[in-house]
Amino acid sequence: MTNAPHSPLANWNGQEMPLSEVRVSVLDRGFLFGDAIYEVVRVYNGKPFLFTDHVERLGRNFQKLQLNSDARLIAQRALETLAHSGIKEGTIYVQVTRGEAPRTHRFPEPAVRPNELIYVQSFHDHYGRQRSEGGKVILIDDIRWKRCDIKSVNLLANCLGAEQAHAAGCDEAVFVEADGTLIEGTHTSLFAVRDGAILTAPLGNHILPGITRKLVLRLAAETGIPVIEEPLPKEKLETVDELFLTGTTVEVLPIVLAGDIRIGDGTVGPVVKRLRQAYQAAVEAECGR
Ligand SMILES: Cc1ncc(COP(=O)(O)O)c(C=O)c1O
Repeated sequence: MTNAPHSPLANWNGQEMPLSEVRVSVLDRGFLFGDAIYEVVRVYNGKPFLFTDHVERLGRNFQKLQLNSDARLIAQRALETLAHSGIKEGTIYVQVTRGEAPRTHRFPEPAVRPNELIYVQSFHDHYGRQRSEGGKVILIDDIRWKRCDIKSVNLLANCLGAEQAHAAGCDEAVFVEADGTLIEGTHTSLFAVRDGAILTAPLGNHILPGITRKLVLRLAAETGIPVIEEPLPKEKLETVDELFLTGTTVEVLPIVLAGDIRIGDGTVGPVVKRLRQAYQAAVEAECGR
């Protein structure tokens, strides 16, 4: 196995190889049906951040899809691949599909071996300006299925939303439910700040249980910021003081414009600044500088 320094390094079903050499069958159920689970972990200073939380979510998702894969084994391979990659600022991507089988909707019987892909690649942060000046989002109808808690690779509605945001010169699209509540972004969790408290949608089938969301709720509790787990109705957007997104790659991202509504005074607010500092401190405590 030869892999150029810092080019993406993969582990495919237990075998390490350059990502460019991985090959998968067209009968793979991930390819045919989106029958697959994924995870993304951020690597800082060569160390995976919030790794245990990501591995636990992976295991829970395997159970939800009755996928016969071992999250602890995947975790061990991911750590080995990261160490061998030499990558310091990066991401670990994991995708496990139900495997390759003749095309039929039902699960294969007998079960086939899942296809387990891990790769580690360098990460280039494109959110620096938005973190200091604030980003912009568009609001779009939530056209996704009813199990958004499952981290499956069925991301077409999310991709369409992200593309629409990009075409509008915005950083993210926020999904609006049929009842008019703002629920989450295409690849981010959504938070608002009102009267010093933070508001975010409660866990359930409508949102992904974000690992960064969980961290931010802990950091808020430690910093003495009250948390209200309630979704934000669209008509209340004009009354919030701050808005921000969280996610593995965006971290904590202030938003100053949502659709045509200016948030607060249109600048990055004090609560999101405090949470951003607390986030950086958490990264340094776990991964070092
Ligand atoms: C729909 C959705 N919501 C929220 C998130 C944020 O989750 P996390 O903080 O675990 O990255 C993601 C991440 O990909 C996502 O796809």
